[in-house]
Amino acid sequence: MQQVNLGMVGGGTVGSGVFHHLKTNGELLAARLGVKIAMRKVAVKAVDEPRPYEIPRALMTLDWNEVVNDPEIHIVIELVGGTTIAKTITLAALKLGKTVVTANKALISAHGEELFAVAKQHGANLYYEASVAGGIPIIKVLREGFVGNRITHLYGIVNGTCNYILTRMKLEGSDFGPTLKDAQQLGYAEANPSLDVDGFDAEHKIGILASLAHGFWVKSEQVSVEGITSITKTDIEFAGKLGYTIKLLGVVKIVAKNSIQVSVYPTLVPNTHVLASVNHVFNAVFVRGDVVGDTLFYGRGAGKDATASAVLSDIADAALDLKMGTKCRVAPFVAHETNAKVVPIDEVISRYYLRLSVADKPGTLAKVATILADAKIGIASVIQPEGHEGDSVPLILMTHDAPNGAMKKALAEIGQLPVVKAPPVMFRVETFA
Ligand code: HSE
Repeated sequence: MQQVNLGMVGGGTVGSGVFHHLKTNGELLAARLGVKIAMRKVAVKAVDEPRPYEIPRALMTLDWNEVVNDPEIHIVIELVGGTTIAKTITLAALKLGKTVVTANKALISAHGEELFAVAKQHGANLYYEASVAGGIPIIKVLREGFVGNRITHLYGIVNGTCNYILTRMKLEGSDFGPTLKDAQQLGYAEANPSLDVDGFDAEHKIGILASLAHGFWVKSEQVSVEGITSITKTDIEFAGKLGYTIKLLGVVKIVAKNSIQVSVYPTLVPNTHVLASVNHVFNAVFVRGDVVGDTLFYGRGAGKDATASAVLSDIADAALDLKMGTKCRVAPFVAHETNAKVVPIDEVISRYYLRLSVADKPGTLAKVATILADAKIGIASVIQPEGHEGDSVPLILMTHDAPNGAMKKALAEIGQLPVVKAPPVMFRVETFA
C-alpha cells in the first residue's frame, strides 16, 4: 500500500490530539483510503511542554524547517496559530509544492487570498477544515455537499466561549462580568477574552464561510462585528419574556443581486428556532441552499479531539490527492464571483430590540417614539417594567424592519435626549424568513 508521510508543526493541545487519533484510527483511515499515513516529525516549542496526549521524543524537533524541508514529508500540518510564523511556515511548504493542512482561522482570514494563490501557483493545496467550527465539517459541506446550491442564508454560532457565557447568563440569570470571570476560572474563557467576547474569533470564521459560500474573498474588515459585552441580565430576561434567546450569530445572507450581508452580532433568536437550543460550548451552523432548503450542523467547535477530527479529514483529502496523482482533487477555495460585494451594514435591513434607561416621567415614551417615527421605524411592542427604584427605569422596544443606518442615526438622537440616562443598547432580531 502506498504511504503518505506527514510532518506537523505544533505539538500542543491540538497537535497531540492529531497524533493520538492518528495512532488509534490510522488503520481505519488506511483501510478507507487505500493509503498508509505515517507521522514522521513534529516540530514543538519545547520537548517537555505539557500536552494532553504523548508524542514520542524521537519524532520531535525544535526547528520547523526540519519538517517543511524534509523531502520525505509530503503533507505539512500547521498548528502553531497566529499569523506571523504560521504564515512563513505555510508559504515555505506551499512553495515546495507540499500540501498544507491548517486549523488556523486567523491565518486563513487574514491571508487566505494570498495563500490560495501561492498554493495554486505551486500546484499545492491548502486545507482548512479545522479553522471553522472545530469538529463540524462545514467547509466540506459548503465545498462539496452543497456545491450545487446557491447559499442564500448562513447563520452560525461559531464561538463556543460566547455561547457558554450567554447560556450561563440565561440559565442563572447572571450578568456578563461575573459570568465571564467564572468562565475564565473554569478554563472556558481565555485570560485575555477580547478575541472571543468582542466577536473577532467569530468574525474570522464567518468571513471564511462567506468567502467559500459566495466565491470571492471576504476581507476581515468587510465583516461588521459586535461582541457580547453590552448584554446584561435585563436583556436576557426581557428577550426571554418576548420569546427569544440572545445568541452571538454570524450572518451571511444574500440581500440583493450580487450583494451579501456578512456580520457578527448579538441576535435575538426566536425560542422556536433550533439555533436557540444550541447551548454551552457547542457550535452550530444553519445553512439554507436554494436547492436543498434548510439544514443544520451541530457539534463541538474546539478542543483537542473535535479539532483533530477535522484535521484528520483534511489529511485524508490530501492523501487521496497524492494517491490519485491529482494536484487539486477538491480545490479548497475557488474564486468564481467577480461581481459580488459585501454591503455595508448601514444598508442592511433588520428588526431591532432596544433597551433604554430612561427617566420615568410623562412624555418620555412620546419623545422616543417621535424620533423613531421621524426615522420611519415602526414600533412593534413596548415594555416598561414596574417596580424599578432609582432615577431611571428600563424601557424595552421591539421594532419592525428598518435599515441599520436609519436605526444608528435614530439611536444617536435618542441618546441625546435628557430623559435618556445611559447610552441606548440595540440588538438585532432575526426572523429566519
Ligand atoms: N476560542 C474559540 C471559541 C475556539 O471559543 O469557540 C477556537 O476557535
